Amino acid sequence: MREQVLSWLAENVSEHRLQHILGVEQMSIDLAKHHHLDYHKAGQAGLMHDLAKFFKPSRLLEMAKANHIEIDPVCAENPHLLHADVSAIVAQNEFGVTDEEILTAISNHTLGRPGMSELSCVVFVADALEPSRGNSIELETLRQQSKENLYKSVYQTCDYSLKYLLNSYLTIHPRTVLTRNWALQIVKQRS
Ligand SMILES: [Fe+2]
Ligand SMILES: [Fe+2]
Repeated sequence: MREQVLSWLAENVSEHRLQHILGVEQMSIDLAKHHHLDYHKAGQAGLMHDLAKFFKPSRLLEMAKANHIEIDPVCAENPHLLHADVSAIVAQNEFGVTDEEILTAISNHTLGRPGMSELSCVVFVADALEPSRGNSIELETLRQQSKENLYKSVYQTCDYSLKYLLNSYLTIHPRTVLTRNWALQIVKQRS
């Protein structure tokens, strides 16, 4: 199946995006192994997380509607945010993926979700921190943290994204804040 996905990706995403996808796949596998999770599932979710990255807004909205995905006002204004949910639909339709945990991890990769599984946490974090995202000291620190404490890594990744969105005057989806608060709460409860 991996070969099949790779040849589909070669037709549907840019070379630069493919490098990112392969980085997310590998980092998801590594993190899953490190945290004793199912690394086959993590790798599959990583490989398929951005299938719909280059779909046009109209196609994203259409597919979301047809598959009864909630389109909140922020997503209606920024249909690109729907590429996560739509990628899970493509994984199902094109590649016959039925595993709910894999599909949910794909859906959660951009905004996270309060209560998400550890597998979803792994893919969420890997999407932001895989090697081609850069090698600033901040990113290196976040990568180190992802091995030490997964939930801490989730809220720190949210903080990192939120800072970027604030500095770039971009829209913040409230779910990023909810995911951040959820992961922070877990870390506080456990310490
Ligand atoms: Fe994405
Ligand atoms: Fe991605």
